[in-house]
Amino acid sequence: MKHLHTALWGVLPYLTLVVLVAGTAWRYHYDRFGFTTRSSQLHESRLLRVAGPLFHYGLLFVIAGHVAGLLVPESLTDRLHVGERVYHANALIAGGTAGLATLAGLALLLYRRVRTPAIRAATSRSDRVVYPVLATVVLAGLTATASGATAGSAYDYRLGVSVWFRSLFALDPDVTAMAGAPLVYRLHALLAMALFALWPFTRLVHAFTVPLGYLVRPYVVYRHRGRGEVRAGRPVR
Ligand code: HEM
Repeated sequence: MKHLHTALWGVLPYLTLVVLVAGTAWRYHYDRFGFTTRSSQLHESRLLRVAGPLFHYGLLFVIAGHVAGLLVPESLTDRLHVGERVYHANALIAGGTAGLATLAGLALLLYRRVRTPAIRAATSRSDRVVYPVLATVVLAGLTATASGATAGSAYDYRLGVSVWFRSLFALDPDVTAMAGAPLVYRLHALLAMALFALWPFTRLVHAFTVPLGYLVRPYVVYRHRGRGEVRAGRPVR
C-alpha cells in the first residue's frame, strides 16, 4: 500500500507535469495552426452565448478559489483572524456558486453538442475522452466541497490536500498528507491529473492562447495627417 501511495502522490504528479509540458511543446511544434478551440459558433450561437461565459467565468472563480485554498497556508489565515468556520462558509458559498455555474455551463455546452447534428458530427475522439473527464473532475470537486460543509464532517482539506499540494513545489512530496484524505478528494486530484495529462492532446490547449498581451499592450496611437491631430484617442493641443 505504501508503494501505491508513493506512486500516486509522489511520482504521478511529476509525470503529469512532464506529459503536460512535453505534450504542449510537441503539439505546438507539429500542430501550431491546430492550437484552437475548434469553435462551433458557426453551427449554433444562441446557447453558446450563455453556456460559454457561464462555464469560463465560473471556472475563473473556481481557479481563484483553488489558488487561495491550496497555496495559502491555514496558519496565515489564522494570523489574519479568519477562523476555520468563516473560511469554510465562504468557500462553500463562493466556491460552491462558482462550481455550480461551471457545471451548468458545461452541461449546456454538452447539451448543444449532442443536440446540434453539425456539432455532433464535428465531435472528435479526443472530445469524447476529455468531456467526461472534465465533467467528473467538476462533479468530484463539488462533492468534496459539499461534503466538507455537512455538519459533523471533520476533514479540513487545508491541513491535508493543501499541505501535499504545496510539498510538490518543494520537490519533497508529503505523500501521507494526501493518502489520508477522504476518497472524494483523492478521486478529484487523480481525475484532475488525468485532465492535465490529456490537456495538450485536446481542444483544451486553446487555454494557452489567451491573449494576455492585450492587458499590457501600449496605447494604439492614431494620427491624422491634417488638422486636429489625434493621439491615443485624445486630440493633441
Ligand atoms: C491537483 C489539482 C487539484 C486539487 C488538489 C484540487 C483540490 C480541490 C479541493 C480541496 C476542493 C474542495 C474545496 C472546498 O471544499 O472548499 C476542490 C473543489 C473543486 N474543484 Fe478542484 N482541485 C484540483 C484541480 C481541479 C481542476 C483541474 C478543476 C476543474 C477543471 C477543479 C474543479 C473543482 C470544482 C468545480 C470544485 C468545487 C467548487 C469549489 O470549491 O471551487 N479542480 N478542489
